Amino acid sequence: MKVEQVSLAYGDKQILRDVNFEIRDIVRTGVQQGQVVSLIGRSGIGKTQLFKILSGLNQPTSGKVKLGNGNLIKAGDMGVVFQNYYLFEWRTIYQSLEMSAKKNPALKESQIKNEINKYADDFQLTEHLSKYPQQLSGGQRQRVSIIQQLLKGSSFILFDEPFSGLDIIVLEKVVNLIHQVSLSDELKTLIIVSHDIETSLSLSDTVFILANEEGKSGATIKKEIDLCAEGIAWNPDIKHLAAFKEIVAEIKGSI
Ligand SMILES: Nc1ncnc2c1ncn2[C@@H]1O[C@H](COP(=O)(O)OP(=O)(O)OP(=O)(O)O)[C@@H](O)[C@H]1O
Ligand SMILES: [Mg+2]
Repeated sequence: MKVEQVSLAYGDKQILRDVNFEIRDIVRTGVQQGQVVSLIGRSGIGKTQLFKILSGLNQPTSGKVKLGNGNLIKAGDMGVVFQNYYLFEWRTIYQSLEMSAKKNPALKESQIKNEINKYADDFQLTEHLSKYPQQLSGGQRQRVSIIQQLLKGSSFILFDEPFSGLDIIVLEKVVNLIHQVSLSDELKTLIIVSHDIETSLSLSDTVFILANEEGKSGATIKKEIDLCAEGIAWNPDIKHLAAFKEIVAEIKGSI
């Protein structure tokens, strides 16, 4: 994915300015590893606005978002997990998942039931399949929302604040889950939009910092950190490494 000179303004209010970045194919020796990129920035900086542009749901005022094949992205190209885990309230969880699976050209009708049951089992949702969304907790809704995108089969999945409002046990599960998804396919590319620096870093190969530059309005990518080059990507003990703590401190100083 290539983001070129993306700017967004509402009237004379500049939200994003000249956002440029590229998500490259990551190679991890001996392991099937997709790309995991974090976009970090403080509350109100413009993360959700950029998220909507990256997912093709909103158009920027200027600039482009292209895929590897050179095509401009459009709504539907990306799997999207929203900040509020939007689900159809009048459908059961099973029906919602079935609808997503039907959008996946690689899944045959006869495989759908099995796929849904497999994910429901992995994500501890089996007993909730016949329930309606309002009968689920926030963490359960989030898991349904993630499975929906997995069933759809999109290579790109964008997550808006996947770690907010979760208790420590559920947080750990979601982190593991996103990590498993990143290992599921070499081509999977996950984009995590978050203000939780430590958690996002622990999952990512690359981090982009969205912040204001001094004296200029509108947020832009102020820094790119390559965690592979730093030698700390995918390390299960990452949070205890001195290099990790230094990078976290550096980010906190720049957002
Ligand atoms: N339709 C709109 N018109 C004008 N300003 C808007 C509109 N939508 C959002 N904004 C402004 O854009 C800015 C960025 O909002 P955004 O939701 O992207 O922040 P965020 O970084 O996702 O914050 P959070 O971490 O709290 O979710 C805010 O100042 C917000 O007020
Ligand atoms: Mg937001």
